Amino acid sequence: MTSTISSSNRKSLFLKACRCEPVEQVPVWIMRQAGRYLPEYRAVRAKHGFLEICKTPELAMEVSLQPFHILGVDAVIVFSDILIPAEAMGMELELTEAGPVLGNPIRERRDMAALRRFDPEQETRFLNDAIRGLVSTLGPTVPVLGFAAAPWTLACYMVEGQTKSGFDSLKRLLYADPKMLRELLETIARCTVDYLRAQVAAGAAAVQLFDTWAGELGRKEYEAFALPATQLLISELNAGETPVILYTKGCAHLMPLVARTGATVLSVDWRVDLKKLREQFGPGIALQGNVDPCVLLGPAEGVRSAVREAIEKTDGLGHILNLGHGILPSTPVENARAFVQAGQSLPLRAASEIHRVS
Ligand code: CP3
Repeated sequence: MTSTISSSNRKSLFLKACRCEPVEQVPVWIMRQAGRYLPEYRAVRAKHGFLEICKTPELAMEVSLQPFHILGVDAVIVFSDILIPAEAMGMELELTEAGPVLGNPIRERRDMAALRRFDPEQETRFLNDAIRGLVSTLGPTVPVLGFAAAPWTLACYMVEGQTKSGFDSLKRLLYADPKMLRELLETIARCTVDYLRAQVAAGAAAVQLFDTWAGELGRKEYEAFALPATQLLISELNAGETPVILYTKGCAHLMPLVARTGATVLSVDWRVDLKKLREQFGPGIALQGNVDPCVLLGPAEGVRSAVREAIEKTDGLGHILNLGHGILPSTPVENARAFVQAGQSLPLRAASEIHRVS
C-alpha cells in the first residue's frame, strides 16, 4: 500500500501542494500526530513530564518521529505546545490533569507590561535544537513543520489562564478595554514573529499557526482584533518561500476574512466544504483538512471513504490531507494508519474521475 512518491521526496510533494502545483498524490499528516493515542508516546510519558519532553530535544525528537515511523506520514511536526512562548514571555506554565494552566493570567495593564520579548535562541533554544536534530535525522526529503498559536488563541490562554468555554475574561477585555487587547495581540504577534523566524532558520520547511479559538468571534470582532494581529504576524514574518499554514476551527462564518490574513494554506475543520472554499477563493490558495477526528473512532472503511470524499472536493489539487482538529486520544492506531494510507494511495486522476461521475 505504501506509495513510492511519498517515500521518495515528501518535502517537494508538500511544498508543491502548498503552492497549488499538480501532484501525483496528496501529502498527509495529522494534527497532534505525536500524542496519547500512540502506546509508544504513552511509554515515554510514563517516564517523563509533558514539559520535560518539550524541553529536552532528544525526547522531543523521539516523540516527533514516532508517527513518521508508525504511520508513514508525509510531514513531521516538531513536538512542543502552543503555550511554550507564553512561558518564555514571563508567564508560569504548568500541565495539569485538566490541561495546561498559566498561573498568572493577564488581567490588568501591569500584567501586560510585565511580558517580555524573548530571544528564541536563548529562552526556547530546545525547540530549535529539536528542529535542527529532526532535519539532520530525516534529511532533505522530509518536511519538518514548526508552529505557534495565532495571536487571538494565545491571548485566550494568557488572559483566561486555562481552556475555558466562552472565554469571558478575554471577551470582557475586548469590550471594556479594546485598546489594551489590541496592544496585547500586537505584543504576542511580534514575539511570535521572532519565535517562528528562529524555527524557520533552524530548518522548518513550513510553519502552522493554530487559531483554535477564532471561532468564538463574530465577524466584526474577528476583523477588528484577530485579523489585524494575524496579518501583522504573517507580513512581519515575511517567510518568503516558506509556507504559512493557518488553522482555524468553527470559522465557517469567518472564511472570507481568514483568507485575508496572508496565509499560504488555510487549514479548516469538517464544518466547512472544501469544494465551496475552492470556488470562493480560487485555485491559488491551498487548503488543509478536514476529516472529523471522530470518523477515526468508527470502522476503517468509513475512514477510507471520508478520505476519498475530502480529496474529491479538491481533486487533490492544492490540498494537504489532515483532520479537522487534533487526533483524539481514544483513536485506534490502525485507523490513523488507514487514514494516512488511504490518502497516499488514492491516485488523483482516479479521484477526479470519481468526482465527475458522482
Ligand atoms: O501536533 C503535534 O503532534 C505536535 C504537538 C502539539 C501539542 N499541542 C502536543 C500536546 C501541538 C501542535 C499542540 C497544539 C496545541 N496545544 C493547541 C492547538 C491545536 C488544538 O488542538 O486545538 C492547543 C489549543 C494546545 C493547548 C493544549 N495543550 C491543551 C488544551 C492541552 C490539554 C488537552 C490535551 O489534548 O491534552 C495540551 C497538552 C498537550 N499538548 C498534549 C500533547 C500531546 C497532551 C499532554 C500529555 O501528554 O498529557
